[in-house]
Amino acid sequence: MNRKIGGKALNWSELGFEYVKTDRRFSARWRDGQWDEGGMIDSEIMPLHEGSPALHYAQECFEGMKAQCARDGRVLLFRPDLNSERMKQAAGRLLMPQVPTELFMRGVDAAVRENIEWIPPFGSGASLYVRPMLIGVGENLGLRPAPEFEFRVFVSPVGPYYKQAGLAPIALAVSEMDRAAPHGTGNFKVGANYAGGLLATRKAQQQGASEALYLDAAENRYIDEAGSANILVVMRNGSLVTPRSSAILPSVTRRSIMQLAADRLGMPIAERPIDLRAEFDDFVEMGACGTAAVVSPIARIWFDGAWHVVNRRELGDDIGGSGTVGPVMQELYDLLVGILQGEIAEQYGWIREVPL
Ligand SMILES: Cc1ncc(COP(=O)(O)O)c(C=O)c1O
Repeated sequence: MNRKIGGKALNWSELGFEYVKTDRRFSARWRDGQWDEGGMIDSEIMPLHEGSPALHYAQECFEGMKAQCARDGRVLLFRPDLNSERMKQAAGRLLMPQVPTELFMRGVDAAVRENIEWIPPFGSGASLYVRPMLIGVGENLGLRPAPEFEFRVFVSPVGPYYKQAGLAPIALAVSEMDRAAPHGTGNFKVGANYAGGLLATRKAQQQGASEALYLDAAENRYIDEAGSANILVVMRNGSLVTPRSSAILPSVTRRSIMQLAADRLGMPIAERPIDLRAEFDDFVEMGACGTAAVVSPIARIWFDGAWHVVNRRELGDDIGGSGTVGPVMQELYDLLVGILQGEIAEQYGWIREVPL
């Protein structure tokens, strides 16, 4: 059989961020205190005990990363070691066994390799989303850790997360509902953080925004993050700032972008609390960043009963307009996407080639 990258007859450039059933997935089990070898399986359906703590008490965590096809046909992952590390931290927080790095990488590599035909070709604008997950399963009723755990990795080809393809500005609406408390689980990628956000996202979308923007739960003042992305702000003094908060996901993309802004664009950078209302007039550019969002410029934000245009002082009050893409977000997007696709060399060791 001729198995090659992009071998499936899909319209790659039309893909959105939807589940597409691929051929195989990786599955490993933890029982009696240890992980089994794990291996590839065919079925996307998981038979689960009805008492599984993942279903009742959200004892589960997950990760998200993208595999990209480079121009020369190599398949590249971006800093998967950080995803592995973040999953270990979430496991520890939810009393789940950690997935060893070797098992994590083997599962990710195998799931990508064995679905090679589903990897979108170079230049298609799409990529292969990789979803590792760790869930507590098995017979249980009371609030206690699961007797067994499953580590699974499935993949799905995806296009842009927000409806607009490529680099197009989005709008966010500040949510009246909180996402995560300062000492809660907001800084871990656990399912429990996301179910509560569904209604906030829906309300934001009904207002014409792409997503909800959360302020800190303690004072309703400082920017936390968007529903599935961290926030970046270019200030009037030329610096790039990003919120410091104990309640937000430590985004792999954000860490990388802050470093690129400092090293490649020579920008002063800072991670500090950002007071939305007090500082908004000093925002020159704003962006949402993440594996799914990549870098998405933010044109306007709904808060305190009105739309507020980012950098209105220079751009005017075009509330209905789609906004412009600022030069810094454009440069950061180009740099990041260039590195993810293997077009721009990087000195950090961020790129891992999947052995095919
Ligand atoms: C709540 C939240 N914040 C931020 C991010 C971005 O994190 P990363 O850059 O590691 O994908 C994600 C995931 O994409 C997320 O779910």
